Amino acid sequence: MPTETRELRLARRPEGLPDADTWDITTATLPDPAEGEFLVRVTHLSLDPAMRGWLDDRPSYLPPVGLGEVMRAGAIGTVVASRNERFPEGTTVSGGFGVVEYAISDGRGVVVAEAEDVAPETWLGVLGGTGLTAYFGLFDVGALADGETVLVSGAAGAVGTVVVQLAKIRGCRVIGIAGGEEKCRFVVDELGADACIDYRGQDVDAELARALGDDGGVDVYFDNVGGEILDIALMHLARDSRIVLCGAISQYNETGAWQGPANYWQILVKRARMQGFLVFDFAKRFPEGRDALLGWLREGRITPRADIVDGTVEDFNDAFLRLFRGANIGKVVLRLGA
Ligand SMILES: NC(=O)c1ccc[n+]([C@@H]2O[C@H](COP(=O)([O-])OP(=O)(O)OC[C@H]3O[C@@H](n4cnc5c(N)ncnc54)[C@H](OP(=O)(O)O)[C@@H]3O)[C@@H](O)[C@H]2O)c1
Repeated sequence: MPTETRELRLARRPEGLPDADTWDITTATLPDPAEGEFLVRVTHLSLDPAMRGWLDDRPSYLPPVGLGEVMRAGAIGTVVASRNERFPEGTTVSGGFGVVEYAISDGRGVVVAEAEDVAPETWLGVLGGTGLTAYFGLFDVGALADGETVLVSGAAGAVGTVVVQLAKIRGCRVIGIAGGEEKCRFVVDELGADACIDYRGQDVDAELARALGDDGGVDVYFDNVGGEILDIALMHLARDSRIVLCGAISQYNETGAWQGPANYWQILVKRARMQGFLVFDFAKRFPEGRDALLGWLREGRITPRADIVDGTVEDFNDAFLRLFRGANIGKVVLRLGA
């Protein structure tokens, strides 16, 4: 039987933060799945800061979402009709289904997301692009060694919460940076960081110097935010340190020039290395990353944390803005039709 689905489409390219005018909600009728295909009812949408970049028509690692196109998004869903034996009816799957209620898939880029002890939001968080970003960013790009000193910004966010916990597993000294006292308490008390600096209420430069002590420096700076905090971090590097350029959320809604690091010469002074990366670069090793992360989850060494918003595809924009307002602790997920 054909299935009606509501879909969120890009109506206008936003200047700065997206708003209700950025989107159209349309209704489509999906045909029954053809041979090799299956129909998915989307239950959870992954909300990611990178989605903001996909709305701009400028060169990036993926083509922008086109005007009139369905908004791209990672999601979890349930197979409700199937003509593909790898994904029978009832299977929980993870894939790039977009901001829709239902999607037809042929299985490309889709993985089975089932384990009795793992919640759907954790498949998008610790076991999804988020956790894999932390894992490959910290261990491969950051070349983390046991016992080093790690600084991570956005420490109470989706990627940051995993970075903190992974670095603690490796016996590192971990200093987080996050917005607000509540977040900082969470980063120290629940994630186990050694210190956390509230960049909204504290002098980051002075607090970082204090946390590092007289001869201390940062061996790995895991940068989720860019801008001013990156500039400050550059002044506190250890010799041969690594800066993992994961994201620059402080700049994503800039309508003018982005704030670049004025203190970049410290990379020379400290013989440091700054490297950008995309989690997709490690796609072939995702099974390795997922296995390791699942193992630590089951041992209780990583605690997953999600910021779940219940709603419909119409609530996408409000839920998405939580990322830029800093309203979330952990992974932002829009749960559809709960
Ligand atoms: N390279 C990759 O492959 C890859 C993959 C996934 C994610 N990323 C990047 O990783 C970063 C974190 O992503 P996520 O999914 O984990 O998001 P998130 O950290 O859960 O959410 C974003 C957080 O950023 C902080 N923030 C917002 N505006 C800010 C500003 N102006 N200055 C400083 N902090 C600000 C807020 O926390 P506060 O309240 O603490 O400000 C907010 O909670 C993003 O930059 C994202 O683009 C990269």
